[in-house]
Amino acid sequence: MKIGIFDSGKGGTTIMAAIKKLLKNEEYFYIADSKNCPYGEKSDEELQKIVIKNVEILKNWGAKIIIIACNTATVKCISTLRQKYPEISFVGTEPAIKLATSTDAKNILVLATPGTVKSERTHQLLTENQKKGQNITLLPCPGLADTIENNIQLAPDYQPLPLTKTAKDVINNKLRTLFQDIETTPDIIVLGCTHYSLIKPEIQSFFKTSQIIDGNSGVAHRTAAIINKLR
Ligand code: DGL
Repeated sequence: MKIGIFDSGKGGTTIMAAIKKLLKNEEYFYIADSKNCPYGEKSDEELQKIVIKNVEILKNWGAKIIIIACNTATVKCISTLRQKYPEISFVGTEPAIKLATSTDAKNILVLATPGTVKSERTHQLLTENQKKGQNITLLPCPGLADTIENNIQLAPDYQPLPLTKTAKDVINNKLRTLFQDIETTPDIIVLGCTHYSLIKPEIQSFFKTSQIIDGNSGVAHRTAAIINKLR
């Protein structure tokens, strides 16, 4: 089956890698829309137009299933896309707040783009899932997705290549600034932007004992279930 995937660049390759592990024999078409990165700092109207353009390209190629490998585009646009293209099955990527809150974690830190942090859907996820006694901090990370986009190189299997000294310094300086007000070590850190999964080891080095999670394997399993139904 033809599976279309898009993101504002390299972040969504982490989702594609997870899907390809489960579904080896499908045809994939990936749009790395880096010229419009960062999605997380665009207005809703601007993002809507960008996302529709990507969907049109994937639809013309013949995709029956489209994976929005981007939290920002999912939380802001998936409902509109489902209404506009009822013939296409959309799989979205959302911050793994449900997974994090289903554990005994007391302190949860959610890292996401400013757009994702502000979105109604993210706040709905919190209201629906936060348990008594859980502290959840939503940390907007302006500039982080594009810093990653510009400083990470991928190998042919989409694994990030070792960082150059300069890239490491740029990324660590950015993280240091973003994390400066976090006083308690989180039990769980949710990577609510697919780009952030590419720098998991760097984030882990700031919070050595935190468990770091993303929604990638969940998206892969949902994709497999939908494909089974479509066949
Ligand atoms: N990778 C995307 C996400 O998951 C978008 C990052 C951006 O372009 O701001 O939110």
